[in-house]
Parts: sequence; structure tokens; C-alpha cells
Amino acid sequence: MSATSRDGFTNKFGVIAAAAGSAVGLGNIWRFPYVAGENGGGAFLLVYLLFIVMIGLPVMLSELLIGRRAQKSVFGAFRTLAPDKPLFMSVGIMGVGAAFMILAFYAVVAGWTMEYTYLAITDSLSGMTPSELSAFFSEFQSSTVGPLVWVGVFMILTAGIVIGGVKNGIEKYTKILMPLLLVIIIILSIKSVSLEGAQAGLAFLFKPDFSKLSGDVILEALGQAFFSLSIGMGVIATYGSYIQKKENLIHTAVSVSFADSLIAVLAGVAIFPAVFAFGIDPSSGPGLVFETLPNVFNSMQGGYIFSVAFFILLVIAALTSSVSLLEVVVAYFVEELGLTRKKATIIAASSISVLGAFCVLSDGAFKFFDWTSSNILLPLGGILIAVFAGWVLGRAKVADELKAHGGKIYLTGILMVILKFIAPLAISAVFLHGLGLL
Ligand code: PHE
Repeated sequence: MSATSRDGFTNKFGVIAAAAGSAVGLGNIWRFPYVAGENGGGAFLLVYLLFIVMIGLPVMLSELLIGRRAQKSVFGAFRTLAPDKPLFMSVGIMGVGAAFMILAFYAVVAGWTMEYTYLAITDSLSGMTPSELSAFFSEFQSSTVGPLVWVGVFMILTAGIVIGGVKNGIEKYTKILMPLLLVIIIILSIKSVSLEGAQAGLAFLFKPDFSKLSGDVILEALGQAFFSLSIGMGVIATYGSYIQKKENLIHTAVSVSFADSLIAVLAGVAIFPAVFAFGIDPSSGPGLVFETLPNVFNSMQGGYIFSVAFFILLVIAALTSSVSLLEVVVAYFVEELGLTRKKATIIAASSISVLGAFCVLSDGAFKFFDWTSSNILLPLGGILIAVFAGWVLGRAKVADELKAHGGKIYLTGILMVILKFIAPLAISAVFLHGLGLL
């Protein structure tokens, strides 16, 4: 099948926008601050950024080139490129499993975001004190009906976009709205940094305290890098299969990773100064963003407009990520099980909604899905992807996929060393150490 006969992206900006749309989401704005807050701040940030450059970027590049070379989504990709090595097809299977787990809790948090959009529009949070806002979030989060309804609404929206197909669905929205989200986060950061007592938050985020590093913290940083970049489960490989041969994959991978990390760091700058200024515990967990930012909106001019715009854009950022997750499952159902796209989407979305309901009802289920998918499934997938690109595809094919666009010889050399040795060994070491086995 040729590149043009697939439902592809129209141009380079479309590809980057869609991949960035998958990468940028609740992972940057909700998960990064909460996990960084729980893991000591600065030292976590440093390790996280190191993993993005040393492991995330090469794995993302591998996924892109595997997908584009095979012109198939993950399953078919590994089968086409290495029919005699079924081990690698487990990337596809784990990917489908990871997509189920991630989307289950992702829909819950996206639901919180929708509730907060509603609260912002109706101006319901203004005038509340920091402790009232925290109490409000806890009460909402532990309620049942509201969060359940939002999971349903969010999954219906996601399914609607996935049924529409790639070009009409994903590309159109991300191009305009993601840059807008960036602008709002920058404005929020400026406001947050100018709050009284902001200094402590900046120090928390940017002054690494290496005594905070433990095997567990390092594993969390690795998991966050994978989660945030959407790598390790085939999402990016599937997008790679839609990218035309003339596009430069290195450029795509670098732009997406850069944009993704930038937004995470900026989200940290918007949140941690406010966390300290308003006396919130940085390790308060998944509610951190929802307890913190309304205080910032309450203290700023035009807070109403900013809060409405911020939460709407965050819902959209969540949608462009959830669409990519559901797409993995749907592609599997369509390509491997022969279902129609519509049927596949409906079955996948409804079963994921049921898992989402479990996450609403049980914090344990929520935490289990969140922790296991990011810290176990994605890094495992990452090992296999790196090994596949490094050892199975090998230098000649990797270079061939990169060459038309200044894939410099020495760069390919470094990339091959990372893919063959550094990434698999580093991920394995972090993994075993984090689990207390090394
Ligand atoms: N990267 C997305 C985010 O940050 C989440 C995601 C993970 C999407 C894995 C696809 C695959 O919100």
C-alpha cells in the first residue's frame, strides 16, 4: 500500500500537530505537576528531562520510522517488517492493553476537567478560599454520579472523533488550538510567578535536591517521560504510518519532544509557585492542578475569561490525546479482527467506559491503572521498540528511513548505539532498581 492511499496527513505541520496533539495532554498539565510534586520537584524534573533526551527521543524516532516503513499500525508493522519474530508483536498486544488502562483513568481526569469547565463558565469557584477549593475538589472527586456522567460524555466525544477518521478528526483541531493553549499557560505562569511567596515554588521545581532521588523516583520519571511523549505502545508508530515519505522524521521527533517538555515545564511554572503561595501541599496527588489553579484565576484580572479558556483548551488537549489512544485499539479491532471502524469504535469505547467507571468508584483501580501503564507497560514496550529498530531493522534500514533529510552519518551512529545498548540497558536498570530487584 502506498503512502498516499492511506488516510494520511496533508502536510508536515499536520503531522507534527497531530503527534504533538497526542503527546500534549493531561500528561503535561495534570500528571507532570502531580507526579513531580509527589517525587520531590527539582531532582525529578532533571531526571525526567534527561530521560526525554536520552531515551524518549530515540524511542519516538524508532516508532515513527517503524510505522512509516511498514505503512501499518503497530501489529501489522512488526509482522510486516519481521514476520519471523513474533516476540515483537507483543508490543502491539501490550499497547492495546496499555491503551485500555490509560484511557480508563484518563477519561476520569478529563471528566474532572469538563466539570471544572462547567464550574468556570458558571463562575462557581470565584470567591472560594484555598482550603475551600481543596475541600470542594475532594468532595467532587469522591462523589459518584457527576464523575461517571462525565466519563461517558468524554468517551462519546472521543469515539465520535475516531469514527470520523484521521484527516477530518484529528488534524483540523490541533493546528490552531494547541498554540493557543501554550499562550494561556505562559500567561498563567507569569501570573503565578508574580504571586507573593512564589519563590519557594520556583526553588522546589528548579533547585534539585538529590537526596530526594530513589529508585522509585527515577522509575516515576521514566514512566512520566514515556507517558507524556505517548511512546512505548504504538501510538506514534501508527501516526508514523500516516507520514509521507518526504517528511523528515528527525525533525518531527525533535519538535514534538521539545514542545511536549516545554509545556510540561511551563505547567510546572504555572502551578508550583501558586502551590506554595496558597499553602497547598505539593504532594497532594492527582487533585493538585484542580486545587491550585482556581486560586490563580481568583487572584488575577480577567480570571473568569482565563479560567474558561484554560479548561476548554485542556479538555481539547485531552481529547486529541484520548483520540490517539482509542485509535490504537480501533486499529487493532479493524485490522486484526476485521470489524468495521464504527463497530470497533463503539465496542472499544464502551468497554473502556466500564473500566473508567471502576476508576471513578475505586481510587485503588485508578492508581493501579495509572502506575502500571506508565511505569511498567510503556517502558517495556520501549525496550522492545528500541531493540527492534537497533537490532532487527538495523543500521542500513534506519539510515535509509532517515537519509533523505540530512540524517547525518554520525547522528545515525549515535542513534544506533542508543537504540542497541543505552536505551534497553538503561530502561531495564531503572526498571529493576525501581521495583527493588537491583
Ligand atoms: N501523552 C498523553 C498526555 O500527555 C497521554 C498518552 C499516553 C497518549 C500514551 C497516548 C499514549 O496526555
